[in-house]
Amino acid sequence: MKKIVLAYSGGLDTSVLLKWIQQKYDAEVISVTLDVGQKEDLDAVQAKAESLGVLKHYSIDAREEFVKDYVFPAIKANGLYQEKYPLSTALSRPLIALKLAEIAEREGAEAVAHGCTGKGNDQVRIEVTVRSISPRLKVLAPIREWGMTRDEEIEFARANGIPIPADLDKPYSIDQNLWGRSIECGLLEHPDVEPPEDAFEWTVPPEKAPDTPQYLTLKFEDGVPTGLNGEEMEPIELIETVNNVAGMHGIGRIDHIEDRLIGIKSREVYECPAATVIIEAHKDLEKMVLTRHEYQFKRQVDAQWAFLVYTGLWMEPLREDLEAFIESTQTKVNGEVKVKLFKGSLRVVGRSSPRSLYDFKLATYDRETTFDQKLSEGFIELWGLPTRISNIIKRKGKS
Ligand code: ARG
Repeated sequence: MKKIVLAYSGGLDTSVLLKWIQQKYDAEVISVTLDVGQKEDLDAVQAKAESLGVLKHYSIDAREEFVKDYVFPAIKANGLYQEKYPLSTALSRPLIALKLAEIAEREGAEAVAHGCTGKGNDQVRIEVTVRSISPRLKVLAPIREWGMTRDEEIEFARANGIPIPADLDKPYSIDQNLWGRSIECGLLEHPDVEPPEDAFEWTVPPEKAPDTPQYLTLKFEDGVPTGLNGEEMEPIELIETVNNVAGMHGIGRIDHIEDRLIGIKSREVYECPAATVIIEAHKDLEKMVLTRHEYQFKRQVDAQWAFLVYTGLWMEPLREDLEAFIESTQTKVNGEVKVKLFKGSLRVVGRSSPRSLYDFKLATYDRETTFDQKLSEGFIELWGLPTRISNIIKRKGKS
């Protein structure tokens, strides 16, 4: 019998998918679930997959790999799509695709399958990555074709012994991992309506946050966070801690209009406390250690990097080319950044670095300054030269 490797979350959609593939393709299903920090009970997911008659189930703790190979590059690139979205879902998809392809090769499967819809970005991210790693593999996306409504899915589930989740009345579609939580559907599809409070789980409403501010000091080494408040910390623990602390202060709620890859505009709501804090701190430190030219150019590189990742092109060679530039800047991004969290607001209030380009003697307005202000006169004369000339010519043209 042929074998199909399925990306399995344990939810209703992928459970229906599992049974549907067994029946429709007359195939054995090998299910795969990754722990990317979504805080799901993976043993329960495995038990569910096995109860639905999979040939084999893979439960993979991919948190370390997710952080080192996907989240760290995103921090170095200040990865935000359309200046807002920290790419949390987008970063996990190439890792899921990589695992699907690896397992399909190991098991001699002929196809992989996923539960993405035909409207989103995730189908593109998974398929482009799988087919770049393993061109012989077929990729099945049954949800794009089967046209089942929610009610039909539930009916199919009942008929096939699939347990119906208790929270079926929740209107939201959720995707979460260490780097953030995405919430879609329900009232959120009306961009003029404020997201209802029940959409949020990781953050308190800012007005209910503590009345006293809290400070966090983040230590960065070569562009990535390695310590918190004076203590060295492993990256998973560090990100989880910042998620908890910043979430408690109502930080990291994101609500914006996003251009999906396939052209649809959508209203997207996220909770990304740690990503929001860490990227803000990282960007601030870059301003201190990079020259103006490096910083300006890097902002363009960062935007291009985020665009590639968002649009499913993790395997595009340009990403590595951009990362070669980014890496060469990050050797300077060492130091500490102090942020102040208070009722939904996040502010960098201090920074220091052994690579700092800030020179007190140049900047100060005190007597100790070494800067010769008279030099500015000649500088202004030359800096403004082309602008002055073009304005003279413009006025002449008018007379
Ligand atoms: N718009 C986000 C992205 O494309 C999140 C998509 C997945 N979200 C979900 N709730 N299923 O990366």
